[in-house]
Amino acid sequence: MSGINSSQIWHPCTQMKGFEPIVAESASGLYIYDAQGKKYADMISSWWCNLLGHCHPRVNAAVKAQLDKLEHVIFANFTHEKAAELCERLTKILPAGLEKFFFTDNGSSAVEAAMKMSFQYFRQTGGGQRTKFMALKGGYHGETLGALSAGALDLYAQKFKPLLFDVIRLDEQNAQEMFAAHGSETCALIVEPIIQMAAGMRIYPPEFLKKLRQLCDQYGVHLIADEIATGFGRTGKMFACGGKWDGKPESRNRAADSGVCPDIMCLSKGLTGGYMPMALTVTTNEIYEAFYGKEPFLHSHTYSGSALACAAAVEVLKIFEEEPILQTAQDNAQYFAQLVKEIFPNARHIGLINAFELPNAAEFARRATEKGVLMRPLGDVLYFNPPLNIERYQMEEVIEITSKLVGTI
Ligand SMILES: Cc1ncc(COP(=O)(O)O)c(C=O)c1O
Repeated sequence: MSGINSSQIWHPCTQMKGFEPIVAESASGLYIYDAQGKKYADMISSWWCNLLGHCHPRVNAAVKAQLDKLEHVIFANFTHEKAAELCERLTKILPAGLEKFFFTDNGSSAVEAAMKMSFQYFRQTGGGQRTKFMALKGGYHGETLGALSAGALDLYAQKFKPLLFDVIRLDEQNAQEMFAAHGSETCALIVEPIIQMAAGMRIYPPEFLKKLRQLCDQYGVHLIADEIATGFGRTGKMFACGGKWDGKPESRNRAADSGVCPDIMCLSKGLTGGYMPMALTVTTNEIYEAFYGKEPFLHSHTYSGSALACAAAVEVLKIFEEEPILQTAQDNAQYFAQLVKEIFPNARHIGLINAFELPNAAEFARRATEKGVLMRPLGDVLYFNPPLNIERYQMEEVIEITSKLVGTI
């Protein structure tokens, strides 16, 4: 073991009895190194947030430069250059109409803010009868109580049911019917676009997302796209819902490129390259206007708009702009999928995410990690979700290590 005493630490999502954490000493690119110098390929991007590898030289330099200038200030009174630059850069790449940025500091709080924002919008625009939310079956939106209510995974929610509020659950079969029954009393529908990651990397067709957008338009319901896990190239596109605006006012809520434009989008995880806890609830001028000069949006988090996190996020976007990150990830996606399929023939993939069902997934993940490939199960599903700049030789190495475990567990 490590020589450090971490027995006072209560780890997330972990049965502490018998638990032996790995001591992370340093990290670089795809790899995390423990106290003995053993390396672990981070094939889950450290809970899906590490976007461009660990200790990326450019992001490191940006954070260091920011540190000597301005670390953090109260965001209720102040703004700063990096926050403004971040919003400006994001506006250029986000789906149509998303132009106002509300800062929070983790994914769940971005979801809470989105739901409260939609709720208050209707209070202030004559839609007071709208008090409900819709969400997809199998959805996951975080673990604070509002986000947990929106989510549908019993694994996380079951024990807390008495604390949660009811949400109308949709799937491809019942969506139309549910909108007809509850559309007029609903503030917003929240979805993970295209892939429900925590549910076990469940991929659904873009046509369903489009249908949901149409239903939201028809019934005056906000569409909240939770791109916390899917944003920033994870699905091969910058955002899973696509939807860069064509500039025409009449199509503000539709997409020019066959994607879907939400009314509110939640971003976190890859936003800072996985460096710093920061999240954004991004919305339209229309929603913003309902608060402008009226009742303000009374929601705040101490670390909103952290200058260090904004500096990291700005640098990540610059890297996307100046280096062919997205293109390379797209080029490599098929290559990686083929490698994965050689050992897991039933694997499905989108972007660099590959997932497959496996009996004893938890034990497989444990053994793979022991062998230097960091994996975690999602129920009986195992997956890879590496940084976007993983190289082909690293994919081969990872597949070689994991292939040796197939059939042994
Ligand atoms: C789609 C989605 N929404 C929300 C969250 C919650 O984010 P956080 O863990 O930062 O609260 C997650 C986390 O995995 C997520 O995958």
